[in-house]
Amino acid sequence: MEVLPSARRLIGSLRDIGYDLSGAVADLVDNSIAAGSTFIRIDMSFEGSNSWIRVSDDGSGMSEGALVEALRFGTRRHYDLDDLGKFGLGLKAASLSQCKRLTVASRSTAQGRTRLARWDIDHIEATDRWEVIRPRARDCRLATVPLRGAVGTVVLWEKLDRILRFKSPSGRRALTEFGQLETEIEDHLAMIFHRFLAREARRRLPLDILINGRPIQPWDPFARRETETRALTEQKLALTDGGASHRVAVRPYVLPAESRFSTPKAHHIAGGPRRWNRQQGFYFYRNDRMIQGGGWNRLRTSDEHTKLARISVDFLPSADHLFELNVSKTQVRVPPELRAELTAIASSVARIAQGSYRGKSEGHQGTDLTVARIEAVRELVGLVINAVRVALTEEFGPRSIELQNISKRISRLEQRLVKDMTQIAKAKATHNGNGAVTASGRATNPSS
Ligand SMILES: Nc1ncnc2c1ncn2[C@@H]1O[C@H](COP(=O)(O)OP(=O)(O)O)[C@@H](O)[C@H]1O
Ligand SMILES: [Mg+2]
Repeated sequence: MEVLPSARRLIGSLRDIGYDLSGAVADLVDNSIAAGSTFIRIDMSFEGSNSWIRVSDDGSGMSEGALVEALRFGTRRHYDLDDLGKFGLGLKAASLSQCKRLTVASRSTAQGRTRLARWDIDHIEATDRWEVIRPRARDCRLATVPLRGAVGTVVLWEKLDRILRFKSPSGRRALTEFGQLETEIEDHLAMIFHRFLAREARRRLPLDILINGRPIQPWDPFARRETETRALTEQKLALTDGGASHRVAVRPYVLPAESRFSTPKAHHIAGGPRRWNRQQGFYFYRNDRMIQGGGWNRLRTSDEHTKLARISVDFLPSADHLFELNVSKTQVRVPPELRAELTAIASSVARIAQGSYRGKSEGHQGTDLTVARIEAVRELVGLVINAVRVALTEEFGPRSIELQNISKRISRLEQRLVKDMTQIAKAKATHNGNGAVTASGRATNPSS
């Protein structure tokens, strides 16, 4: 017996699955990127209760069948490994978290017709049915105009009840705040998509995003154009999951202290949308799209003295379940298997960052050596463990239960080993005092 959910009741809760405005816009941008767009325009117009927000792209567009499927909650489709999509919900859930009327217009061939489809919450509530409305092109020029003669897709949000929560949605306050939202979206997209905007993503196509006609400039969390920014050695970590292994790339950076930035303006910009203190920590990327920008995920606490530490962590969608990626793609959890290693990396980077904060350029080498030593240890442990894994796989076959069980135990052992050896390396480094200076051959005694 099939029992269908009540449309009227369910649509209400689907509006609240954790999107904020800029996160919701970012989810539309994901779709545009996935459709191969190179040019995305975001337009917002304040017209009191008729205000609207629109995202237009020059991607592949959608055929009639694809458009209808795209509006289904839980789109039925196959995902490639390099896809930015995931749950088949983003378009609907992100849009309806902000507005009551979502219209999608799309055209997949230059000669073809523009097709439109719409969810309207008022209609769903009135009918209690999952009924998609099909407006005529001439009745919805706001959605069709950007597609004139071109292939692509337009997503239009109207009835912005969640954005214009004012007693008077056409009042002065509403107007001012609507204007501020533009900056908020701009800052967020500049961060989330910085690799795409700076042509650093693995995807080959260029990408420009315009907001109300202005191009969005990428924001680099690691201020890599500053000569004093320090990029520490990249670490490749492995996450095991049954017989499979996922690679996670970790790249730590220590940004310069305020006085060492090229200009005060560059320092201000590097502070980021959430400002220095809250931008320290991990930057998680999934297929080059940032999921989390800053924060230590409870592996340590944010502290004024470590605010110059920022660490990129890259993973692939095949590891989504291990990172517990949420629907709005705004949150991950550090997999238990990575906690020890990420904590160790974070604390060594934090130490260097503290040195940089205090302006101790001398201290760099010392802490750098410690980091190098720890890295060497980790590498060695990794090599041995890998050799053991290869031998075991040959012995038992890649899919055997035995291999999976042993693999789990080895992973735990590896964590313990790395942790213990890291501690020993650290203890040695502290014991040697400023060991770096002696080790690098420079005398501690200034007279020699
Ligand atoms: N801008 C777009 N251009 C082309 N196709 C799109 C666009 N936006 C959405 N789609 C289609 O709609 C589907 C559903 O999108 P969405 O609800 O965001 O889920 P997901 O991205 O997880 O698949 C996508 O898989 C894609 O096929
Ligand atoms: Mg999507």
